[in-house]
Amino acid sequence: MRPSQRRIEERDAGVRVVSLCPGPVRTGFGAAAGGAAVHADRVGVRVSPVGSYNDMKDGAPRELFVAVAEAMQRRKIAYLHVVEALPGSFMFVEHPERISPFLRKAFRGAFIANGGYDAQSADQAIESGEVDLVAFGVPFLANPDFPERVRRGAPLNAADFATFYTPGPKGYSDYPALSAGS
Ligand SMILES: Cc1cc2nc3c(=O)[nH]c(=O)nc-3n(C[C@H](O)[C@H](O)[C@H](O)COP(=O)(O)O)c2cc1C
Repeated sequence: MRPSQRRIEERDAGVRVVSLCPGPVRTGFGAAAGGAAVHADRVGVRVSPVGSYNDMKDGAPRELFVAVAEAMQRRKIAYLHVVEALPGSFMFVEHPERISPFLRKAFRGAFIANGGYDAQSADQAIESGEVDLVAFGVPFLANPDFPERVRRGAPLNAADFATFYTPGPKGYSDYPALSAGS
């Protein structure tokens, strides 16, 4: 959405985006935290500020997602998990600036990054203080023993992109683990 087409509202549960476009459609995005059933410190929120999957792209992601991060900071949720893939990742989205540093500044709880990291770039991001933790998707998918491979410096299985988002076990549970001697 373009900023002129939406209003960002903070509500009890988090942040809501209200469409200002005429017509019956009012779009809501809620980052829920701190409800009666679950305490905020047991809630984590995952956001993809520049993601465009299913046409969910926002016209001013820094403004919108800083508002989300600030709202989550006020509620002191357990962690903010930000998917903003590095160049080279299949999830990479071209955008004029990186949004994550602004979110890191706005949110002071545990900050998790995801998208295109390997063990080395994850270490660097953590050591530099850019992030607290890094989450891995594809490396885990293609390597059922990913932590053990990193520990041993063993080569990783290449991911089969053709099986991503396909039904059935192929590409999900058939990647080989290291054999005992390897
Ligand atoms: C086969 C596959 C299915 C995925 N399904 C989801 C999903 O349902 N929800 C989601 O938020 N992300 C999903 N993702 C994205 C991952 O959570 C992650 O953000 C992405 O793989 C980038 O991280 P990576 O570079 O460590 O793989 C999926 C990724 C893959 C490869």
